[in-house]
Amino acid sequence: MNRSIRKVAVLGSGIMGSRIACHFANIGVEVLLLDIAPRELSEDEKKKGLSLDHPAVKNRIVNSAFEATLKANPASLFSKKFASRVTLGNFTDDMPKIATYDWTIEVVVENLDIKKKVYEEVEKHRTPGTLITSNTSGIPIHLMAEGRSEDFQKHFAGTHFFNPPAYLKLLGDNPNSKNRSRSNKILNALWRSFLRKDNCAMQRHTCFHRQSGWNFWFIESNRLHAKI
Ligand SMILES: NC(=O)c1ccc[n+]([C@@H]2O[C@H](COP(=O)([O-])OP(=O)(O)OC[C@H]3O[C@@H](n4cnc5c(N)ncnc54)[C@H](O)[C@@H]3O)[C@@H](O)[C@H]2O)c1
Repeated sequence: MNRSIRKVAVLGSGIMGSRIACHFANIGVEVLLLDIAPRELSEDEKKKGLSLDHPAVKNRIVNSAFEATLKANPASLFSKKFASRVTLGNFTDDMPKIATYDWTIEVVVENLDIKKKVYEEVEKHRTPGTLITSNTSGIPIHLMAEGRSEDFQKHFAGTHFFNPPAYLKLLGDNPNSKNRSRSNKILNALWRSFLRKDNCAMQRHTCFHRQSGWNFWFIESNRLHAKI
């Protein structure tokens, strides 16, 4: 099967989400970066008379997270102009947009219930057959996939980027036990061609991640898109 990855949606713009978004922008991918809309106004927003429905308020979390990432050292973007490849938005208004994305990466807070709520929303909008992965540090993959459709489970896996993703060569993946051989094939091809993991070293069950099924890869350099 040929699969081209040209558009990646990243859900969660915290420490990892914003940096993963930048990493994909660095390699020429169009990125949609979303986060929650705030439930309360800030003091500044109150002074300005804004409401929770104002677009600037709704995107406040993602805007400030991405801005902070752009100022961080070491730089997450290899060139400032790559920032234009990242579109910002919020889960409430912009989740339907993931329908046109090839790969959705969930990078929200490490909490099973919250991640599962996000997947419920993802399930409403993702196009069947597209990849859906989590940057979880240690929540078992089968628990996160519980309750999801057959197609979701077939295309679901863990893809653990280490911080900072643009610099660290180590990357972990954990195919879903229900789709191990197919998912393994997709992920291996993805890392090998998309992120150009030319000389990879794979280790299972490292000291850091004792959860079974994790593979660890060393990324060499980057390339534009994968054919899987
Ligand atoms: N920080 C690291 O070094 C690191 C490294 C590898 C993997 N991870 C994993 O990546 C994921 C994100 O970690 P992080 O360090 O970026 O966390 P973070 O706290 O910086 O970001 C968490 C994100 O979750 C969002 N969020 C909070 N409450 C939410 C809710 N109720 N619904 C939806 N989204 C919500 C936040 O707005 C934020 O964007 C976690 O699974 C973590 O284990 C983190």
